[in-house]
Amino acid sequence: MVKICCIGAGYVGGPTMAVIALKCPSIRVVVVDISAPRINAWNSDQLPIYEPGLEDVVKQCRGKNLFFSTDVEKHVREADIVFVSVNTPTKTQGLGAGKAADLTYWESAARMIADVSESDKIVVEKSTVPVKTAEAIEKILTHNSKGINFQILSNPEFLAEGTAIQDLFNPDRVLIGGRETPGGQKAVQALKDVYAHWVPEDRILATNLWSAELSKLAANAFLAQRISSVNAISALCEATGANVTQVSHAIGKDTRIGPKFLNASVGFGGSCFQKDILNLVYICECNGLHEVANYWKQVIKINDYQKNRFVNRVVSSMFNTVSGKKIAILGFAFKKDTGDTRETPAIDVCKGLLGDKAQLTIYDPQVTEDQIRRDLAMRKFDWDHPTHLQPLSPTATKEVSVCWDAYEAAKDAHAICILTEWDEFKSLDYQKIYNAMRKPAFVFDGRNIVDVEKLREIGFIVYSIGKPLDPWLKDMPAVA
Ligand code: UDX
Ligand code: ADP
Repeated sequence: MVKICCIGAGYVGGPTMAVIALKCPSIRVVVVDISAPRINAWNSDQLPIYEPGLEDVVKQCRGKNLFFSTDVEKHVREADIVFVSVNTPTKTQGLGAGKAADLTYWESAARMIADVSESDKIVVEKSTVPVKTAEAIEKILTHNSKGINFQILSNPEFLAEGTAIQDLFNPDRVLIGGRETPGGQKAVQALKDVYAHWVPEDRILATNLWSAELSKLAANAFLAQRISSVNAISALCEATGANVTQVSHAIGKDTRIGPKFLNASVGFGGSCFQKDILNLVYICECNGLHEVANYWKQVIKINDYQKNRFVNRVVSSMFNTVSGKKIAILGFAFKKDTGDTRETPAIDVCKGLLGDKAQLTIYDPQVTEDQIRRDLAMRKFDWDHPTHLQPLSPTATKEVSVCWDAYEAAKDAHAICILTEWDEFKSLDYQKIYNAMRKPAFVFDGRNIVDVEKLREIGFIVYSIGKPLDPWLKDMPAVA
């Protein structure tokens, strides 16, 4: 029986291994983590991450061929294939601070694998890492190998949160990078055999190690670039009276462009896009490619601009001050169908509004109060460390309250900001909400999900990204 161990029971490791276990009943899969609370949650009815369909998959395999454990060393020792899916934060100090990946957790995982191994192993990079990490890991492993043969593969994960299970069941492609030596190719084949249980062969792509590592950074940079492109156009739409939804639809009809990933928004978030672009920028700079680095930096700059622009719209529309005003924040997760808040645009928008002394009432169907308070108190990049190393939950601030109902959040509010596109926000009773709000009542839709005309008929002043402006907003400055 092939034995797989995955180090890191997070958003990538957990769902990926659960699907491998489901699709490969003949393989024994153990997911290990240093965080006991996380492993306990994986072994309970309350999984540590919210992901549609995940619970069902876990329930089918857990205790049969899928196990979650804190006994990292034992399961690594026993495994034939070790996936590594640990945190790769952005460095906050020293060389490359603010851009380069901090590989501390990766390095310690590699050293531990070398220490405990008693048999040959395939070590698979699953977390997104800078190009040439595999080579560095290979060096750590081979210099400490005690005669054991380690083969390193790069197998980046392309799942998106909220649709992780579907993406894993039916991936556009599986990418496996390995050494072009007989040993390397044998390892590539062994991993191909795992995926071949359910992925058609023509979707399993084999490349060299560096191409696989770079493809992941490039794919995320391209995706983020599409959003920054459409968001840049959204600013121009507001200035000219064009409608960004119509423009996206029209350009998406060009088969070379395609219709997906063209929704203008308050900005992209998530654990990958910004971090991976910063990584790409750093690698370019290290290779003396400053023009290329500046090109990709601009994708992040537009994203920051879009979040600032949103805050400025809110403040300038409300008589240039939100001081002491109650603003309801609907949605805090970085996208719908996840409880994940890593790099969510809601953090920057809320901080911007709090900077102008607003009173916020936040509601998200999947994000806990503790998480929201941590996020608003956390320093940039601190989120990407194992939970037990993150700052403790801060004490409550009176400017922020968190509630469990959209109506409660909006009661007596001067404005509503929609920051996540949760389906339930589309079907709220906006008349009821309007009746309970202060007047004039504002809706700032950062995800373009409300029916603007209908809300205007009710009496709201509505701002919707990239849409023709409400007469109220026309002469207000959008950019500070
Ligand atoms: C992304 C990649 O899609 C995935 O392939 C990779 O493995 C990890 O990074 P994820 O961050 O989970 O996945 O979600 P994604 O659906 O890509 O959304 C990222 C952000 O972009 C979200 O904040 C989302 O709201 C935003 N977005 C997405 C837009 O603003 N507009 C769009 O049209 C699409
Ligand atoms: P991702 O979104 O890439 O899956 P997460 O932050 O959700 O990232 O998960 C990474 C996990 O890796 C965390 O649960 C963390 O506790 C775990 N981890 C980090 N370092 C180690 C290590 N050396 N051994 C075991 N688990 C680790």
